[in-house]
Amino acid sequence: MTVTSGIVKPYESNYNLQHYEKVYNNFSWESVEKAFSWSKTGQLNIAYEAVDKHVDEGYGDKIALHYVHNETEVKLTFADLKQQSDQYAQVLRKHGVKKGDRVFIFLPKHPDCYVAIMAVIKIGAIAGPLFEAFMEEAIKDRMQDCGAKVLITNSELVSRVPREELPDLQTVLITGESSECQQDELSLWEEIRGLDAESDENVIEWVERDDPMIIHYTSGSTGKPKGILHAHRAMIQQYQTGKWVLDLKEDDVYWCTAHPGWVTGSSYGVFAPWLNRATIIVNGGRFAAEAWYELIERTRISVWYSAPTAFRMLMSAGEELQKQYDLSSLRHILSVGEPLNPEVITWGKRTLQLRIHDTWWMTETGAQLIVNLPSQPIKPGSMGRPLPGIKVEILNDKGEPLPIGEVGQLAIKANWPSIMKGIWKNEEKHQSYFPYDGWYISGDLAYKDEDGYIFFQGRNDDMINSSGERIGPFEVESKLIEHPAVAEAGVIGKPNELRGEIVKAFIVLRNGYQPSDELLKDVRAFVKTKLAAHAAPREIEVLEQLPKTRISGKIMRRVLKAWDLGIDPGDTSALDGGQKKETLYTTKQ
Ligand code: WT7
Repeated sequence: MTVTSGIVKPYESNYNLQHYEKVYNNFSWESVEKAFSWSKTGQLNIAYEAVDKHVDEGYGDKIALHYVHNETEVKLTFADLKQQSDQYAQVLRKHGVKKGDRVFIFLPKHPDCYVAIMAVIKIGAIAGPLFEAFMEEAIKDRMQDCGAKVLITNSELVSRVPREELPDLQTVLITGESSECQQDELSLWEEIRGLDAESDENVIEWVERDDPMIIHYTSGSTGKPKGILHAHRAMIQQYQTGKWVLDLKEDDVYWCTAHPGWVTGSSYGVFAPWLNRATIIVNGGRFAAEAWYELIERTRISVWYSAPTAFRMLMSAGEELQKQYDLSSLRHILSVGEPLNPEVITWGKRTLQLRIHDTWWMTETGAQLIVNLPSQPIKPGSMGRPLPGIKVEILNDKGEPLPIGEVGQLAIKANWPSIMKGIWKNEEKHQSYFPYDGWYISGDLAYKDEDGYIFFQGRNDDMINSSGERIGPFEVESKLIEHPAVAEAGVIGKPNELRGEIVKAFIVLRNGYQPSDELLKDVRAFVKTKLAAHAAPREIEVLEQLPKTRISGKIMRRVLKAWDLGIDPGDTSALDGGQKKETLYTTKQ
């Protein structure tokens, strides 16, 4: 099973981490602490280390953020960033935001989004960034769950926020003028102009390293999304992986393609680069191969972190297109979120003369754990090896380590600096990640080879990974059955060449409804507009009956998956509807 052929050797260069084994064997996380000002002052806040410190150390004029969207271009220096985040922070304080309060940020990939995140964290509050494509239900589930007190959004996105269902929400700040505000919404610009000129002292709230700073909601295979809380201490690992894995240096121009609503977009779109004083590129708009290549050429991006689906889309846009752009500024490329196919690595080598470095981690882990370092050989198909400071094992069902080459549960020795602090109001779920003493269980299946490289083999549950985005089937099923025509729904991930998986729904219609393209289009649009576009099923199959357990009536996704793949579902005699009847209708959008 072990892949030994096709090893890709590193290109000669002066990388921040040169000798993996030596460092791995001698590393301690404590040794990283001296990089932070709190190791001397005792005063700690990740936003200080990411922004204000650079100004205090004389780098105020360095570009922190370079935003490009069509003809619009904005550059913020670290001094600008400090000043603006101080102002936002003071407005939040004026409106009663205190340490530990949840402040949500619902903005597109735009400088305001990045400034807002820093402002919230500066005053010791918890930032709740929301992906810009979320619709009403997705927003409600998250803000309601953790009792968001304040929301920072814009005049366009605010229309998707169901205010009447959010009783804890006291203040809505709009990044715009009063003329753009409705009812009791407040103009953030007006609020800033109204600030007391002398009040810019002591904006930062000093905190403990275990105090929370950000909350990301993420899907599992059951229930609503869970609020994963990260603490200020995550900075230790975000900083160090920025140095070693992103290999950031003073002159780098760094681009992470993820929105800060996802953990990649916060840990590696905001914290890791800014803790390393790097210049980040922020692009507006959706994916388009031309626009992405043009951005790299125009802003001279040198380090680029993206996802396999994006690379596959660029691959399918063709090499002719790529040749029209000067991409010679690129020196280091990384990937995360879903399996990186060996073909994509081959494409990168052939067309860009660069290796693509896969990394593995999760929302819950806060930072990278399994990585391909730029100085180390890559084995295509492998996610890499454990970061120094991280111990990885493959465990069997009893929690015992498995031998080399055997597939089992991918487990990490707890703790590490960026591990989640907890799950909002769900300690039971939090504990469920630690079924064996001292091990964090990821829910992924993998094996290890004789050199310690880890190979991903799939999930141990029903979670769907489409284009690197994690989708809980339960959320989609719940939304589907709210549609008047849908009686029952079972949702699975269906293998797909471009997106890894697509969301596929099996539904049973209510009496009186006839399946048609039109109806299924409407069902899909319902999920898209109420929940989120990425969660809407691309394929819907109408059945007479779904396979369910007799006692609890639980829909067996495992059986649906087997039917879909045309493989043996195993013993289904104990199920209702365990035999597949004829498909009444099926459609692909
Ligand atoms: C799940 C976590 C934080 C990174 C973005 C996704 C899958 C992640 C890889 C990889 C194969 C991967 C796993 C993991 N995943 N990286 N390099 N190769 N699969 O974070 O949304 O919390 O999802 O994404 O299944 O458990 P997430």
